Amino acid sequence: MRKILISGASRGIGKAIALKLIEEGHCLSLGIRKKDKLINTPLDPKSHSPEKFVVHTYDATDRKSSKRWVENTVKTFKNIDTIIHCAGILKKTNLIFNDNEMQEIEDIWRVNVMGPWILTKDAWKYLSMSNSARIIVLVSMSGKRSKGNLASYSMSKFALMSLCQTMRNEGWSKGIRVTAICPGWVNTDMAKEINKFPKKDMIQTNDIANICSNLLVLPNSSVPFEIALNCILETTN
Ligand SMILES: NC(=O)c1ccc[n+]([C@@H]2O[C@H](COP(=O)([O-])OP(=O)(O)OC[C@H]3O[C@@H](n4cnc5c(N)ncnc54)[C@H](OP(=O)(O)O)[C@@H]3O)[C@@H](O)[C@H]2O)c1
Repeated sequence: MRKILISGASRGIGKAIALKLIEEGHCLSLGIRKKDKLINTPLDPKSHSPEKFVVHTYDATDRKSSKRWVENTVKTFKNIDTIIHCAGILKKTNLIFNDNEMQEIEDIWRVNVMGPWILTKDAWKYLSMSNSARIIVLVSMSGKRSKGNLASYSMSKFALMSLCQTMRNEGWSKGIRVTAICPGWVNTDMAKEINKFPKKDMIQTNDIANICSNLLVLPNSSVPFEIALNCILETTN
């Protein structure tokens, strides 16, 4: 049984992962911008044991909220041995952006890159204690290749991929294993404007939840660093 922080669990991929892992008996601490969003949902704290299920306010753009979330989780669970980073935003900022889009670029940098970096840093001393900690990061295919004109999103995901490599390098001797999950389009709010193919043909959130669940049972010697999955064929030329 792991003691897991999940960011971005209010909806989409993070929510599916939380539902799967709670069913499997792990201790979960969810970092959510607006805790009311979980009232009367399957992730309502009222429906779970308070020793095994914590919901804390977390905003990736607020430097201090990550430390508060980590410290309050440790008060309940005594330790943290897993982080699953799902919070993220997508903005379609072009290379030749307008001056009024500068804020968008800064937001994407703060949420998609600095958010996971700071949360990992704040939890590092706890992750280092277990000798078999896991960090799972929702990167994207956009962290492996730049397609179309998603300049700011792709920039943030390449940076996040680089951060994953550093986490792996620095965590290896402490038994921390990192996996960067790199999906193509997943059927969530983030992909709601994509109409090139039906939503049922996209990657489904439950499939990513199953991947996470499987990752958590692998020993230190067998954790894959990267899992890329796509719902369409992409050629390299
Ligand atoms: N969907 C895709 O096609 C796809 C493909 C590849 C990778 N990904 C990546 O997978 C991750 C999850 O995406 P998703 O599809 O589940 O997206 P989603 O349905 O749009 O959900 C995004 C999640 O991030 C949270 N979030 C946004 N800004 C935040 C902030 N400032 N602080 C804390 N939490 C914040 C949202 O919380 P609120 O409810 O409060 O807004 C929500 O829980 C993202 O990193 C995304 O880039 C998605």
